[in-house]
Amino acid sequence: STPDARAVIDLDLPGPQISRHLYGHFAEHLGRCIYGGFWVGEDSDIPNEGGIRLDVVEALRGLSIPNLRWPGGCFADEYHWRDGIGPREQRPRMVNSHWGDVVEDNSFGTHEFMALCELLGAEPYVNGNVGSGTVREMSEWVEYLTRADDSPMAALRRANGRDEPWRVPFWGVGNEAWGCGGNMRAEAYADLARQYATFCRNHGGNELYRIAAGANVDDYEWTETLMKALGCIDCKGKPVFQAVSLHYYTVNGSWKDKGDATRFDVDDWYVTMLRARRVEELLRRHSTVMDRYDPYRKIGLVLDEWGTWWNVEEGTNPGFLYQQNSLRDALVASVHFDAFHRSAERLVMANIAQTVNVLQAMILTDPDPDSGALVLTPTYHVFEMNTGHHDARRLDVHLQDDSDPREVEGQPLELLSASASTKDGTALVSLSNLDADRPRSVLLDLRGMEVTGHRARVLTAPAIQAHNTPADPTAVAPAEHDGVQPHPRGLLVELPPHSYTTVSLDLA
Ligand code: AHR
Repeated sequence: STPDARAVIDLDLPGPQISRHLYGHFAEHLGRCIYGGFWVGEDSDIPNEGGIRLDVVEALRGLSIPNLRWPGGCFADEYHWRDGIGPREQRPRMVNSHWGDVVEDNSFGTHEFMALCELLGAEPYVNGNVGSGTVREMSEWVEYLTRADDSPMAALRRANGRDEPWRVPFWGVGNEAWGCGGNMRAEAYADLARQYATFCRNHGGNELYRIAAGANVDDYEWTETLMKALGCIDCKGKPVFQAVSLHYYTVNGSWKDKGDATRFDVDDWYVTMLRARRVEELLRRHSTVMDRYDPYRKIGLVLDEWGTWWNVEEGTNPGFLYQQNSLRDALVASVHFDAFHRSAERLVMANIAQTVNVLQAMILTDPDPDSGALVLTPTYHVFEMNTGHHDARRLDVHLQDDSDPREVEGQPLELLSASASTKDGTALVSLSNLDADRPRSVLLDLRGMEVTGHRARVLTAPAIQAHNTPADPTAVAPAEHDGVQPHPRGLLVELPPHSYTTVSLDLA
């Protein structure tokens, strides 16, 4: 029978590199992300190394996390790093006013974060405080982390038990300056970004990639103002900051009532998919603004907060942003990644919010501090299935789908999404079927190289609301997919309704 759609892929025409940093993560001092999620303390019965829980680390190693952003988020702009160094029992306490108004005891600070990055094999992305900090405070944090000699901050680090400087490649200059980071006007923040970034020095061989706090959703004026503030048209001179960020969350309802994580219907499913797919338009239009000021793409776009944001689970602290994670979240992630791959010329990094127990998490841990139970979410599995795209080169997918798009909120929603990449004599094809009810067959029309073998995996479940719980931890888990048949032009792939499929190809 005729396939529903055709995906033409020239296997011998690799495009730009898909940076592994598009698969970055974000861990904030928010709810149970750090405390209870990553950090249990050295006295916990939960197996840990220096207080960092090892079951979470081990699970995340399966994702090859390339970078981890910390300590916020909104928290970054009220965090004072000196409160989080030295003997833990002497560290001052503070109020985490953004997230639950709880007292933060600073037991997880700079050294603990760097130890976590080392355990994960992730590169640190430290977000400095512009909103309530000082230039000196930020400058000294960089020195503390990265300087080798006997400078005052390097000596302080040594006194706290760490001789060698760390390597810190990524540095955030404030966060959401238009909102929780200080309610600033774009012009005012752009000047501060230039000032703060100037004093974030490169010490020794540590070259900082400074990321200015960028726009919310479709605030193209914010991006334009930041790009103007770079102070160069062709960027032959070195800009003060190397990237601008962007934040975009997928909600199902309004910002006040974002919808429930697991109690939703088919209409909600499609609204969510439409809004998730909007990320591509946002990336394209912010990039277009950037192109005007930086035609050679020396400045990166960093989507350092993305993901679903639902109403919190009943009975949980509204300030802790704890939500379940269903098959719908998995498909939100898979279509984001397709958009990221297509935006790889300008998009250099992306960070899902957030890794453990907050918003669109990879891992949900039991709130009982004595319980070591955890579940991997459907979103975790999409990250795992996509590790083959890390640092691979994009293969353009020419998708021809003759079925009509579905009309959702007055806009067309394409129900198939695909992307592909190649590295090391292999190719990886990602296929999302967003149709809640109908299977789809896709002909992979593979050209330019011989395919000597293939393996397919699928992530789906009987219900679109399916999610993993301690009682049923594999309700949504990847399985080998036998719905792939050889075809004279390539491979014919059957996609179940509401599913995510990857096809790995061996190339000769
Ligand atoms: O990720 C949760 C919060 O969302 C972050 O702290 C903030 O930057 C954004 O508004």
